[in-house]
Amino acid sequence: MPTGRQVFQRGPFGEGSRCFASFNMTNIMQTFIKDLASKVGEEVTIKGWLYNQRSSGKIAFLEIRDGSGWVQAVASQDEVGEAMWGEINKSGQESSVEIIGKVVEHPKKKGIFEMHAKSYKLIANSSDYPIALKDHGPDFLLDNRHLWLRSKKQWAILRVRDAIITAINEYLHQENFIRTDSPIFTPNACEGTTTLFAVPYFDLGSAYLSQSGQLYIEAAIASVGRCYDFGPVFRAEKSKTKRHLTEFWMMDAEGAFVEHEENLKIQEGLVRHIVRHCLKNCEQELVILERDIEKLKKADAPFKRYTYDEAIPKLQELGSDIKYGEDLGNDDEGLLTKDSDVPVFIEKWPKSIKPFYMKRDPENADRVLNDDLIATDNGGEIIGGSQREDDYNLLLERIKAEGLNLEDYQWYLDLRKYGSVPHSGFGIGLERAVRWICGVEHIRECILFPRTIGRLKP
Ligand code: 4AD
Ligand code: MG
Repeated sequence: MPTGRQVFQRGPFGEGSRCFASFNMTNIMQTFIKDLASKVGEEVTIKGWLYNQRSSGKIAFLEIRDGSGWVQAVASQDEVGEAMWGEINKSGQESSVEIIGKVVEHPKKKGIFEMHAKSYKLIANSSDYPIALKDHGPDFLLDNRHLWLRSKKQWAILRVRDAIITAINEYLHQENFIRTDSPIFTPNACEGTTTLFAVPYFDLGSAYLSQSGQLYIEAAIASVGRCYDFGPVFRAEKSKTKRHLTEFWMMDAEGAFVEHEENLKIQEGLVRHIVRHCLKNCEQELVILERDIEKLKKADAPFKRYTYDEAIPKLQELGSDIKYGEDLGNDDEGLLTKDSDVPVFIEKWPKSIKPFYMKRDPENADRVLNDDLIATDNGGEIIGGSQREDDYNLLLERIKAEGLNLEDYQWYLDLRKYGSVPHSGFGIGLERAVRWICGVEHIRECILFPRTIGRLKP
């Protein structure tokens, strides 16, 4: 009698034996599941984890994942013999396994490949795996982030994250930027003094964890022309939102002789390249994530643009209570993009709510030559960029007006003293981009181990 669908839960594998001591693996090269389509008819070895299994009498259907994909391996008791059949039966969800078998195309589903198992080896059993294939609450999943990463959705997000990193590196090199990278220990603030993490630094007092490498790559452009950094940055943000992390990854790009208009062009080119690259390389992942692919496709078209001064009355018309001089909130960003198929630039903001380094707009001394790029589908701000103040005296004035310690910024002022050039750059928040492309609600799923105001573990 078939036993029907038997899905892993706590309990049934509680007796499973552990075999941590000796792995006893055969030294056979593994085939990756993603490559099975080209191996039909061949006998291959796959090594991975048992994602799920169900059995029907003397046949077991084993769902195996190896990091490159998922495959169903069909094992029959008669074919594998009593000993291996016993191993299969005692294997719990997430046991590590090695299976040798022939690759076949699914009899009914074209393009789907299976394995007919000839041999099954339990490498290390897993019993009482805490994450069953059902819904769990977010706190439970976050406490078990080290295991949660193995689930299909998290797998898909990690792969899209990787694809976005590849797309960024690809595009920037194509546009003549080289990667230089900036320090993480810094003596001063880049993005305001209220969100700094201080750490004791030997006899030198406190160091601060970098909020953005921008100031440093402004120095590097005078050496290499165009460059970027890519790494973790830190913000002691008190914000408990679905878009804020205290540690996140940022790519800052900076270009000598790049002015405001060209800066926007580069940002648009980059984001459209990311979209195209993910559509081309992450189809399976986007399907798992249930991302509306048609919507993403539409984002690869010329972006819209509003000045801050155009955006405020528009927002007020749409029902926001925002006033001139205020920063946009999450709801405002949503309102401005809700009817747009493409991301929207908001440019030329009031000087008073933006950092000291932004260049003032020659047409309006109260505005700066900057932009925030707001993604569609409630993606929020994914990029912040600006042309930088390149005039020594104006920059000095801004540093003083902000009450920053002049001595800390002397080196930065030097850049305006020895062959200053017009220059611009921007920073893209990697996890914000991942969140948007994947269409996931919360940014904490877009990084391996999220750090937020209330979470430091695991
Ligand atoms: O707009 P921000 O603060 O700009 C800068 O740091 C500039 N120095 C960048 C530059 O011009 N080189 O940050 C840039 C981006 C934001 O648009 C957002 O995508 C992301 O970083 N970001 C965050 N992501 C996650 N959690 C946070 N707390 C973030 N704060 C900013
Ligand atoms: Mg910003």
